[in-house]
Amino acid sequence: MTRNPIAAFDHRTGFKLGAPVGFKDFMWEALKDPAAGINMIQTAENLAKKYGIAREQVDEFASQSFAKAVAAQQAGFHAGEIAPVVTEKFELEGYKPRGIKLQGKITEVAQDTHARISPLEVLARLRAVYEGGVQTGGNSAALVDAAAAAIVASGGYVKNWAKGQTRKPLARVVAAAAVGVPPEIMGIGPAPAIRLLLARCGLTLDQVGRFEINEAQGAQTLAVGRELGLDMTKLNVNGGAIALGHPLAATGVRLTITLAREMRRAGVRYGISSACVGGGQGIALLLENPSAV
Ligand SMILES: CC(C)(COP(=O)(O)OP(=O)(O)OC[C@H]1O[C@@H](n2cnc3c(N)ncnc32)[C@H](O)[C@@H]1OP(=O)(O)O)[C@@H](O)C(=O)NCCC(=O)NCCS
Repeated sequence: MTRNPIAAFDHRTGFKLGAPVGFKDFMWEALKDPAAGINMIQTAENLAKKYGIAREQVDEFASQSFAKAVAAQQAGFHAGEIAPVVTEKFELEGYKPRGIKLQGKITEVAQDTHARISPLEVLARLRAVYEGGVQTGGNSAALVDAAAAAIVASGGYVKNWAKGQTRKPLARVVAAAAVGVPPEIMGIGPAPAIRLLLARCGLTLDQVGRFEINEAQGAQTLAVGRELGLDMTKLNVNGGAIALGHPLAATGVRLTITLAREMRRAGVRYGISSACVGGGQGIALLLENPSAV
């Protein structure tokens, strides 16, 4: 996310005297929906209005996300799913070495860097991105760097592989659902996606013990909670993207691995990971904990 380029497209054939010299910030471009003509923060502001969500409620939710993330870090929960990034070199004979060089004197990053205790009164002092709006830099998903990976295999393969293995699969992927929603309220996507997923599996909301719903923006997650009538004590119990960050493209795997590990920790059978998608979609995945069947 922090390496997103700022690019110029129109200058190969030179500049026209007096014409604007255009550069585009790809981070900002990625957060804008050209169809609806608004950015992601504005989609959350639309949800805040639609569901009557106040700034204080969003800050309260954010403060809890930070507190849960810090508690989970201190308890060592997150360390169980983080591969530290270190300054290192990869060498292969005949090729120039490649590698990772962290900034300044830092030689290792082993935990999420945005999570910190954030009392309500501190968050309340932050300036809203849009005047009169509810979203700030403190109650929206942080822009952080990450990559994530998981091994997904068919049931048949796992069965064969499992013979003679001591390690068991972390979770079973039961079903998935993806839906479309109006782009100007893209953040509500998880609500209809979760409804469709439950209908497909013949389950009810209260049979699901844990939810990891991406906190793209605080008002967005609160709107999803209200729309579903969700028990918020089952949601993002180890903190969410407001505290941990939302690195586009890594988040889906991160949510799902956190969910699978938390389901094991809590001993629950079913869990759902879900995210809204800029442009107007919602996606949800049902996991089953093999140890709780
Ligand atoms: C909201 C957003 C525009 C803010 O961007 P930004 O202005 O670059 O954010 P910053 O990190 O500089 O935060 C703004 C301020 O809040 C402060 N802040 C953020 N979190 C804080 C916390 N927990 N406690 C105290 N201060 C905090 C920062 O220090 C900064 O203060 P400063 O202005 O004095 O430097 C950006 O984070 C965003 O768009 N997030 C959502 C991304 C998204 O929508 N993703 C989903 C796509 S579907």
